[in-house]
Amino acid sequence: MNNNKVFIFDTTLRDGEQVPGCQLNTIEKIEVGLALEELGVDILEAGFPISSPGDFNSVVEITKNITRPTICALTRAVAADIDCAAEALKHAKRARIHTGIGSSDIHIKNKLKTTRENILEKAAWAAKYARNYVDDVEFFCEDAGRADLDFLAKMVETVIAAGATVVNIPDTTGYCLPEQYGAKIAYLMNNVPNIDKAIISAHCHNDLGMATANSMAALQNGARQVEVTMNGIGERAGNTSLEEIAMILKSHETNLKLQCDINVKKIYPTSRLITRLMRMPVQPNKAIVGRNAFAHSSGIHQDGVLKNRENYEIIDPKDVGVPESLIVLTARSGRAALKHRLEIIGYKLEQKELDETYKKFLDLADTRKEIYDEDLMEMMGQSREGRIYKIDYLEVHCGKRLTATATVALEKNGVRTVEIAEGCGPVDATLKAIDKIIQQPVRLEEYLVQAVTGGSDDTGKVHIQISKDGVFYYGFGNDTDVIYATAKAYVDALNKL
Ligand code: KIV
Ligand code: ZN
Repeated sequence: MNNNKVFIFDTTLRDGEQVPGCQLNTIEKIEVGLALEELGVDILEAGFPISSPGDFNSVVEITKNITRPTICALTRAVAADIDCAAEALKHAKRARIHTGIGSSDIHIKNKLKTTRENILEKAAWAAKYARNYVDDVEFFCEDAGRADLDFLAKMVETVIAAGATVVNIPDTTGYCLPEQYGAKIAYLMNNVPNIDKAIISAHCHNDLGMATANSMAALQNGARQVEVTMNGIGERAGNTSLEEIAMILKSHETNLKLQCDINVKKIYPTSRLITRLMRMPVQPNKAIVGRNAFAHSSGIHQDGVLKNRENYEIIDPKDVGVPESLIVLTARSGRAALKHRLEIIGYKLEQKELDETYKKFLDLADTRKEIYDEDLMEMMGQSREGRIYKIDYLEVHCGKRLTATATVALEKNGVRTVEIAEGCGPVDATLKAIDKIIQQPVRLEEYLVQAVTGGSDDTGKVHIQISKDGVFYYGFGNDTDVIYATAKAYVDALNKL
């Protein structure tokens, strides 16, 4: 076996899907599963079949539709769970049962109310029992991050002897420091006599923001499987994020001498798909896939990036499927960024002209958060009036036994157009009415409403991201009426097309 290969175990559909509000139906899970297959994950944890008939059914359907990765199902260390997982996995080309039990004294005493001896017995029994069904059995030592090291080593040895082929050492509560977690893995690698018969897996949670660092420490100390989710979603603060591990391995390949089979070009599209289906927005400053991950706003950085991207970017955004770096024009932008943007929209300025324009730009930028192309055009004497849509009127009817209906009037260049549309809710109806007027087929990528301070009379801030032909546009709107704020944000984004 190639000892430099890191197996990517994706648990977006299990640990990720456990997050409140992220639940998917079976069709959506298959869509995510197909995307993860294309992304190149080695093992796909499809669910916890005993937890509900819906979860059982999703695991079955995933095994029928996704064939390249190993499909894994989670169980507790009890017969009914293992029987149920085996049944759900029976169509899988390659199947893995992931069973396990608590390993820390906190879990053994307070949750399982038993003894270490009993845990070893149950663990051995479960690994052996699962091996009756499949050759690929992963055993998780829950809360291994806080477990006594010698007991953990004994448990790992016991489950390997009983037939586990992969042993998962979860930092269930996200407690460990990278040095501690790395040392734990090193200790197991050096002190478990039969360790060469299994792969050690890192499963880290992000409660202290150290999930990725801990997973990397594990890999550097001998673990060869890492359990991850797309966008780092998962219980509480989330799990180790797939995109971070894949890009760390790629960026430091010469140094680490480790590699995985993730097709990194698919990272961004997969991230968007999961954001959309799970309705779980990615924080703007999230590494690799956040909206600002490749956005440069300070003058010094913009100048540097425009001279040579590598001055301020360690990853070429195109390598992870992001269309381009973003030069955000704000009051902190310098002449280089302004010149670059003006050239893109068709203005080539001599130095003297640029200096004068830059002064005007700073005056304008001081009054705004961000300067868009239309602001620049206006500044260059090309009036915005007549080129953009403005909301003249909005009326929405919605409620429990009502079909949501929106009437929207937009005005452009002195022409007023009114349209009515129905939708599955007030937002849907409003956007559909606007679409009828503007008639630019776009895809809504992200929709976020936030209260500014709190209280039911608070202003709602709406951020919208749309895409057209692979290019992303943002819109922003705020109002005490969140539907009006939504319409403003959507029209704002459409005006940038
Ligand atoms: O965090 C954890 O311990 C888990 C196990 C079920 C693997 O998710
Ligand atoms: Zn977990």
